Amino acid sequence: MARKIVIGNMKTKSNYEEILTYVEEIKKLSYSGLILMPTSLYMPFFLNTGIKLGVQNIFYENTGSYTGEILPSQAKSMGIRYALVGHSERRKYLKESNQIINKKVIAGLEAKMGVVLCIGEDMEDKLKQETESVLKRQLFTALKGVEDLKNLVIAYEPVWAIGSGKTPTKRELKMNIKCIKDFIKTFTDVDVKVLYGGSVDSSNIENFLSIDTIDGFLIGGASNDASELKKIISIIKSFS
Ligand code: PGA
Repeated sequence: MARKIVIGNMKTKSNYEEILTYVEEIKKLSYSGLILMPTSLYMPFFLNTGIKLGVQNIFYENTGSYTGEILPSQAKSMGIRYALVGHSERRKYLKESNQIINKKVIAGLEAKMGVVLCIGEDMEDKLKQETESVLKRQLFTALKGVEDLKNLVIAYEPVWAIGSGKTPTKRELKMNIKCIKDFIKTFTDVDVKVLYGGSVDSSNIENFLSIDTIDGFLIGGASNDASELKKIISIIKSFS
């Protein structure tokens, strides 16, 4: 089995003391598929750990003055190779539209970063059985004008599964991942990887590992606990 990608979206969970302890613990973890996305403020603590790094957000330009933002070119110049774009918390609280997300995808790829584009339906979409059309619309708009998709990864995160302890059934997951992969195949030959995210932890990861179309995981809450993350990785390793 190909090595699964594991991305830790650490969000805004830790304070200064906690992050120092976390870095000491996580340094001992060796897994080449791991990418951590800490709060940007804490990035320097992670820089020489050998762990691949990503930012949780980028701005949509690569030059200029945009107070408070992080340009993809700036992140890249520090050796940070990945960027999360379009996370549902940013769509919700910062009103990021698919059009803004499209500009961020383009700017990230232009800076030669690996862009992890988050998409997913909310509960209302799911109940109305509109998941497939929502996923396709998000992909279509976010990828408009993007020609080279080889540095793109999709993270499928149903909004209702994030931080809720709820997860899709295997059948739903298989169907939705297939919908994403099939749709992407209509405009590129590149084999774009698709991750699953939403309440993944050490107690449920085995269910997802048995679905071979899932290329990896975007892990939020659980990635902030070093011993939990180690457990998850050791389960993944034992599965391969
Ligand atoms: P969760 O978050 O694992 O805490 O559900 C996932 C995410 O928001 O990326």
